Amino acid sequence: MNVSDIFPSGKDGEPSEAKPAPKHTVFVKELSEKDRRRILRHFLALKESDRLLRFGTYLPDEMVTKYVEGIDFSRDKVFGVMSAHFRLVGVGHLAFAPKQAADEVTDKDKVAEFGVSVSESARGKGVGFKLFERGAIHCRNADVDTLYMHCLSSNQTMIHIAKKAGMEIHREYGEADAYLKLLPADAASVLKEAMQEQVAALDYTIKANTRAAVKWLGNLSGTKSE
Ligand SMILES: CC(C)(COP(=O)(O)OP(=O)(O)OC[C@H]1O[C@@H](n2cnc3c(N)ncnc32)[C@H](O)[C@@H]1OP(=O)(O)O)[C@@H](O)C(=O)NCCC(=O)NCCS
Repeated sequence: MNVSDIFPSGKDGEPSEAKPAPKHTVFVKELSEKDRRRILRHFLALKESDRLLRFGTYLPDEMVTKYVEGIDFSRDKVFGVMSAHFRLVGVGHLAFAPKQAADEVTDKDKVAEFGVSVSESARGKGVGFKLFERGAIHCRNADVDTLYMHCLSSNQTMIHIAKKAGMEIHREYGEADAYLKLLPADAASVLKEAMQEQVAALDYTIKANTRAAVKWLGNLSGTKSE
C-alpha cells in the first residue's frame, strides 16, 4: 500500500514529501467480528519497533494472532480507519476493565485501556488523532473518566496527539504506563459520536462495495486486484 491508497488523488510511487499532504477527512468506524482478519493483517504488518510501542512489549506473530483472536467485540470497542482501497490503516482498541481496589485515580466502577496503531504509509494524516479522539469520546459517553495507555515518555507523537486533544498525560505507575482524565459526557459528545459512526458506516459500505465490484470485474476480465 502507498500514499495513494489513503489519498486517492495521489500517484503511486510519488513521494509524499513532494508537497505537503492536505489534511484528509478521516472516518473512524466501529469494527466488528467480520473485521477480525483485517485487524490481524494490520498488526502483523507493524514493524518490531511499532509493536513495542503499541503493546508495550515485542509480540511475535503467534502472540499477535492470539491477541486478535482474543478480542471480545461484545465487551470491548475496536475502531478502525479504512483506506480508499478498503485496507485497514488504523486500529484503536478500547478495552474496559473493572476498577482495581487500589486505583485511587477514579471514583468510577470501571476504567478503560486504549491502544492505537497506524500503518506506516498512512501516518501524519490525522488517523492516529481521530482514533484517539474517538476512543476518548466513547469513554466519556460510557461514563468512564480514566483512560490508560502504554505510552513511553519517548513516544512524542502520542504525547503530541493527547495534548492536541486537550488532555494531559499523567504517570503514576512508571515510565511506560500513562493515564488521561476525561471530561464527563454531555449532549454534544453523545451526538458527535453517533454522527461520526453514521458517516463512517456509510463510508465503509461504499468502500467495501467498490472493492467487491473491482474484484468482480477483475475476475471477469482475468486481472487480479490487490
Ligand atoms: C502514534 C501513531 C498512532 C500516530 O499515528 P498518526 O496517524 O501518524 O498520527 P496523526 O497523523 O494523527 O498525528 C501525528 C501528530 O504527531 C506529530 N508528530 C510526529 N512526530 C512527532 C514527534 N517526533 N514529536 C512530536 N510530534 C510529532 C505530527 O506532526 C502530528 O501532529 P499534527 O497533526 O498536529 O501536525 C503512529 O505513529 C503509530 O502507530 N505508532 C506506533 C504505535 C504507537 O506508538 N502507539 C501508541 C501507543 S499505544
